[in-house]
Amino acid sequence: MINSSTELENLHVSPPDAKPVLPAVLPFVNEVACIDWEDGIKQVFDNTIDLVLTDPPYGMAYRSNRRKEKHKSIQNDTDLDWLGDWCKELKRVCKPEAHLYIFCSWHNIDVFKQTLGAYFNVKNILVWEKNNHGSGDLLGDYAPKYELIIFCSNGSKKLNGGRSSNVIKCAKMPTDNHPTEKPINLLRHLIEKSTNKGDLVLDTFAGSFSTARACKEIGRDFICFEVEPEYCRTAKNLLNGVSVSLF
Ligand SMILES: C[S@@+](CC[C@H](N)C(=O)[O-])C[C@H]1O[C@@H](n2cnc3c(N)ncnc32)[C@H](O)[C@@H]1O
Repeated sequence: MINSSTELENLHVSPPDAKPVLPAVLPFVNEVACIDWEDGIKQVFDNTIDLVLTDPPYGMAYRSNRRKEKHKSIQNDTDLDWLGDWCKELKRVCKPEAHLYIFCSWHNIDVFKQTLGAYFNVKNILVWEKNNHGSGDLLGDYAPKYELIIFCSNGSKKLNGGRSSNVIKCAKMPTDNHPTEKPINLLRHLIEKSTNKGDLVLDTFAGSFSTARACKEIGRDFICFEVEPEYCRTAKNLLNGVSVSLF
């Protein structure tokens, strides 16, 4: 694992005659931060984040019935009143060349797109095609088999690797750590396309800390906020079990 303190100190190296105004180490890096994003993000310095990868409450009172174990409802999932303030804070903490991936449902993608578009360049909508479909109106509607990911750029950074499709096929997680747990392989793919080793990734709605686990596997630093203590307790164990890839 990379040495986060040393890496992050480098973020704040000033030219010899500039005033050193920032503390040496960013708070929350590579920790399970059990805190509301609105409080946590205030402590994140300006222009420090290389990638935002997050899966917010969709504002549609989501409640899963399919999982074996019933989970609580997602907190703050009844409206999107927070969206404007959230985008403003993301803009402040993102580096000028940062990328952003925001999971979203088709139900309110227009609101997300419009609000994000006021701050960032909305470049694409990626489709995550799942291996099987969810439940719902079995006879009166089409089976839901995808989720959307809004891809934004804060500058003109290029993607790593060869040309990748905007449709990504990936199996759902077989585990039941969180009602909307995202596949680590999918997250790893997005992180690898948009960051390099040692870069700093922000997830303001961490859930089971799947973004953090993906970051740890591939040597990226992370700041991840989650407001629900139960998920944070689970995440500590999950993160301890993640081994770091040597390649
Ligand atoms: C859609 S889930 C994220 C699931 C996650 N991607 C995963 O793979 O496990 C959204 C999460 O945001 C959390 N949340 C809601 N409001 C929050 C807030 N104000 N600050 C931090 N976390 C919040 C919820 O408790 C929920 O776990």
